[in-house]
Amino acid sequence: MTVLPFPICPEPDEAAREAGRLMFAGPVDFVKGVVAMDGLPPADRLELCFAGRSNVGKSSLINALTGRKSLARASNTPGRTQEINYFALGPSRYLVDLPGYGYAEAPRPVVEKWQRLLKGYLSGRQTLRRAFVLIDTRHGVKAVDEEILTLLDRSAVTFQAVLTKADKVSAAEREATVQQVRDTLARHPAAYPELVVTSSEKGYGIATLRAIIATLE
Ligand code: GTP
Ligand code: MG
Repeated sequence: MTVLPFPICPEPDEAAREAGRLMFAGPVDFVKGVVAMDGLPPADRLELCFAGRSNVGKSSLINALTGRKSLARASNTPGRTQEINYFALGPSRYLVDLPGYGYAEAPRPVVEKWQRLLKGYLSGRQTLRRAFVLIDTRHGVKAVDEEILTLLDRSAVTFQAVLTKADKVSAAEREATVQQVRDTLARHPAAYPELVVTSSEKGYGIATLRAIIATLE
């Protein structure tokens, strides 16, 4: 088997960085919170979603990207985001904040409902262009992540790994997680072959992610 190297995404060139900056400096508006598949907005624009375990930092990353502190509700309490939250980024894109997975504290029927919705969305949204799958740099890929990655493979949805909370670890710990993530991605055909290391707190990787989002077609 050929193992792809899965490099960390290089710094964007000046044009891509500027495109990202401009797009995110423009309007970003909350559209709606969706609780069932039939509540999804019309599939009429390119869509990017943020998936990951509860508390990994999905909502915080959306806030960091948009430079709006409380656009998406972030919280220390796992299971904060319980709906599929749609944000319109300019006239041509949706950013989608998903409920986390792998959180077992909420009542079981509630958890099952979110999980069904999440899986339905990830496997059945035609305009979903790329899923960013967030991995906590302190913890690496867990079994519940594998389940989601396999679902994305089966649905042929390209996903890109985004390491979060990089400010919380040493360079050596970060390197160990990057390596573990690479080993995982090598087993998933839908993996985009570059990963992004971020900190919503310190701003690492934010310009890179903005550039990726702005230049996707
Ligand atoms: P759910 O909606 O419950 O699935 O969680 P989420 O993935 O949206 O996580 P959220 O953005 O709410 O962040 C969870 C916690 O992690 C919050 O206390 C954030 O302040 C913290 N956090 C998120 N990103 C970072 C980061 O880059 N660095 C640090 N130090 N803390 C972070
Ligand atoms: Mg959230």
